[in-house]
Amino acid sequence: MRKFLTTTALAVTMTAGLLSAGLARAAENVEVLHWWTSGGEAAALDVLKKDLETKNISWTDMPVAGGGGTEAMTVLRARVTSGNAPTAVQMLGFDILDWAKEGSLGNLDDVASKEGWDKVIPAALQKFSKYDGHWIAAPVNVHSTNWVWINKAALDKAGGKEPQNWDELVALLDNFKAQGITPIAAGGQPWQDATLFDAVVLSLGTDFYKQAFIDLDPAALGGDKMKTAFERLAKLRTYVDDNFSGRDWNLASAMVIEGKAGLQFMGDWAKGEFIKAGKKPGTDFVCMRYPETQGSVTFNSDQFVMFKVAADKEAAQREMAAAIESPTFQSAFNVVKGSAPARTDVPNAAFDDCGKKAIADLADADKNGKLFGSMAHGHANPAAVKNAIYDVVTRAFNGDLSPEDATKELPAAVAAAQ
Ligand code: GAL
Repeated sequence: MRKFLTTTALAVTMTAGLLSAGLARAAENVEVLHWWTSGGEAAALDVLKKDLETKNISWTDMPVAGGGGTEAMTVLRARVTSGNAPTAVQMLGFDILDWAKEGSLGNLDDVASKEGWDKVIPAALQKFSKYDGHWIAAPVNVHSTNWVWINKAALDKAGGKEPQNWDELVALLDNFKAQGITPIAAGGQPWQDATLFDAVVLSLGTDFYKQAFIDLDPAALGGDKMKTAFERLAKLRTYVDDNFSGRDWNLASAMVIEGKAGLQFMGDWAKGEFIKAGKKPGTDFVCMRYPETQGSVTFNSDQFVMFKVAADKEAAQREMAAAIESPTFQSAFNVVKGSAPARTDVPNAAFDDCGKKAIADLADADKNGKLFGSMAHGHANPAAVKNAIYDVVTRAFNGDLSPEDATKELPAAVAAAQ
């Protein structure tokens, strides 16, 4: 009898323990602010949601549409100002450091040291994941902006050769025009114009990209090479259709997917759209580095930034951060997203040829000093400078500034924003 009572008491205690643990676990929730609303982006986000579900962490979605995250950052500011920060926020580069400076972010040091992040996350990303020596964000991927996505059938009709330099690129665009398709699928939004400009500037030399966008050297920002960059931008604009203004980037990707356009200049999140549409690299589309940028990479890394929240929400933040950095998750997520993993030790086996190239290019560029933060995606400068560059680039792309005038305005705009 005594034994029975003890056993029963034990069972009751255990059940109560399990229940309370279960209840505590089930109560864990993350509210996540992000701008991943296109088909490919949502599919990748789903990999994260499902992974967290298996850990009993529920997801409260806070999507703010708008590629590049400009709108998301405005909404975030309003939320934090009203004292109601989301648990986790998708963020890029210098924006993360700005929030850290304001003292708004939490601390992920314990999970980072337990999981050994210092050894496996590249220094180029740590620059934005850490502030004052403390981990404040969990990088989920590495994208890069100097890519071209080409419709394979249209390229084959044009002779099948990937353009290796500016003249060959122009010849290919002329061929697309002759085929009766829109040569360049573009979306007329400032961040998209800037994404293309990243590649155009990089193609004129890695030193030039660094001097202009990383060092903000006025001589590079206002010199002859910059004029050439703006001339090329103006030339590219002549291959865009009349309805480009304000078009979302994923709709531009769809034009290439459907064969209505020849190519798109866009970061490798575009690959997520091709994959979502069931298209295969090498068969349906071709990925290549923007001509004359082979070996160099302008990168941006999406990171999940953890804001200071009530103590009972911190466990969920830490679990989410640990889940994001797991090598298995890094592979599963980035295969769908089109990006490379944020850690250097993730096998490339599950990635397609474009993904394998992205991973290899990143490692080589890092080793050879040819890896640079993307100006267009907030990894070269804080928002004020980035927006000043956007403004000049967009006016130039739209023909409101001649290449000469844009070259004069750029150093002045950057100086005023600093
Ligand atoms: C980038 C972001 C990518 C992609 C893209 C378009 O800034 O890093 O993950 O989503 O915007 O929305």
